[in-house]
Amino acid sequence: GILVVDLGAQYAQLIARRVREANVWSEIAPPSLALETAARMNLKGIVLSGGPASVYASDAPQIPTELLELGVPVLGICYGMQWMTQTLGGEVLPANAREFGRTSIAVAEPEALFRGLDGHTVVWMSHGDQVAELPEGFRTYATSENCPFAAVGDPERGFFGIQFHPEVTHTVRGREVIDNFIHAVCGAKDDWSPDSIVDAQVARVREQVGEHGEVVLGLSGGVDSSVAAVILHKAIGDRLHCIFVDNGLLRKGERQVVETLFGEHFQMDLTVVDAGAKFLAELAGVTDPERKRKIIGHEFVEVFREEAKRFKQANFLGQGTLYPDVIESIAAHGGSTDVIKSHHNVGGLPDDLEMELIEPLRELFKDEVRAIGRQLGLASVVVDRQPFPGPGLAVRIVGEITPENVRLLQEADAIVTSEIEAVGADEGLWQYFAVLLPVKSVGVMGDARTYESCCALRVVQSEDAMTADWAYLPQELLQRISNRIINEVRGINRVVLDISSKPPATIEWE
Ligand code: XMP
Repeated sequence: GILVVDLGAQYAQLIARRVREANVWSEIAPPSLALETAARMNLKGIVLSGGPASVYASDAPQIPTELLELGVPVLGICYGMQWMTQTLGGEVLPANAREFGRTSIAVAEPEALFRGLDGHTVVWMSHGDQVAELPEGFRTYATSENCPFAAVGDPERGFFGIQFHPEVTHTVRGREVIDNFIHAVCGAKDDWSPDSIVDAQVARVREQVGEHGEVVLGLSGGVDSSVAAVILHKAIGDRLHCIFVDNGLLRKGERQVVETLFGEHFQMDLTVVDAGAKFLAELAGVTDPERKRKIIGHEFVEVFREEAKRFKQANFLGQGTLYPDVIESIAAHGGSTDVIKSHHNVGGLPDDLEMELIEPLRELFKDEVRAIGRQLGLASVVVDRQPFPGPGLAVRIVGEITPENVRLLQEADAIVTSEIEAVGADEGLWQYFAVLLPVKSVGVMGDARTYESCCALRVVQSEDAMTADWAYLPQELLQRISNRIINEVRGINRVVLDISSKPPATIEWE
């Protein structure tokens, strides 16, 4: 596979995903773990990512120079290129004109990384420093107006550097550049596809759990725990015990989907815990959002722990931890290996459960999880579903949570979802849901005065939930949603539209 050395920008994950999208296994490591990781991989090539530092800064990442002596091709991107050329005897200087954003490069030599590309192509740049003098043996593959060495390389030694970011979609032919590096330059074989992922993960689970081990898994109905459940089930069958906690704050019909899919279709050992009354009792009278979250987290652990006791012989706790969580927890701890083992508690569960964690998705990105979910026959209602917060409808009922409020919101939310999906307007939306407001207003229905609740529509577009914008919906669709909610949900007589972006608002209301 390909090792992506993370030099401290958000780009490393994107690079690793692009490599995998080209059907080749990739792993990310911080510089401090790069050699160790390289040693246990079937290494075909190395990518040094971009990063925010200047090679002259005192806090620049310390990259082991041995990475250049492993006998595999190395591609340096942006900062990675600057470090590599400097290390090999070239020179890096502050650029006369810093380049940010869209730039055109001219391909000088349509070879190696640029096989099949010629003329001009649009790329994404983001740099202050740049290479001013090449190391011996290097030549120029592409130039831009402000950057004479936009792409360079020494094909003899297999060292390449590019100043632009091939991993971002703004770089029009970035995928081809990455594909050329991993296939044409590194000679990597295709070894990564939804099929091979499933087989590999099933084999790993079997190895970790052994012949007799049993696993308890908290199933939330979300994509991650659902795919984890299917992989575990495929690996160990009835030795997987799923626990689904109905906390009374689920979307309408959610519990039935889980029961039908996992209990009936997959025939898993599924326990559905009816904890709605208990959660709502604990939440009675609570209006502070953070307290709501704390109570729900605490209750969940209580209920789960109690249920897990029934599986005394189970020695593993399954979790749907993803690769980005793993990478981030390593990075957050300065790249020390210890953390890889001890990054427990992703699901907020206590250590004293005395179970070993089993995380069948810990090497996978979200889009890969979705792809194998489809592969494994998980219905689109699970795989393509919108994100749903752990605390559920509690953070969408502003103010006090009562059984009646939950019912109102479930009904209104089901109308929002079904109307949007019915016309295919969910395509390209990140989330679309209803929020119940602690506001009553006067209305008139027939010839009677009403004094009832109000709900807001929250419909957003986003790439990653870090930023989001409210989405445009056709007027007829808004009209239908509003009419249906007001006519069909007894207790709501007004619907408003949330037109706030994140930041400064957030996606959820609490
Ligand atoms: P905000 O409201 O912060 O939400 O813009 C960003 C994304 O995170 C989801 N979200 C949560 N997910 N537990 C979760 O698992 C939570 O407590 C939680 N709060 C918000 C939210 O739905 C959105 O996708």
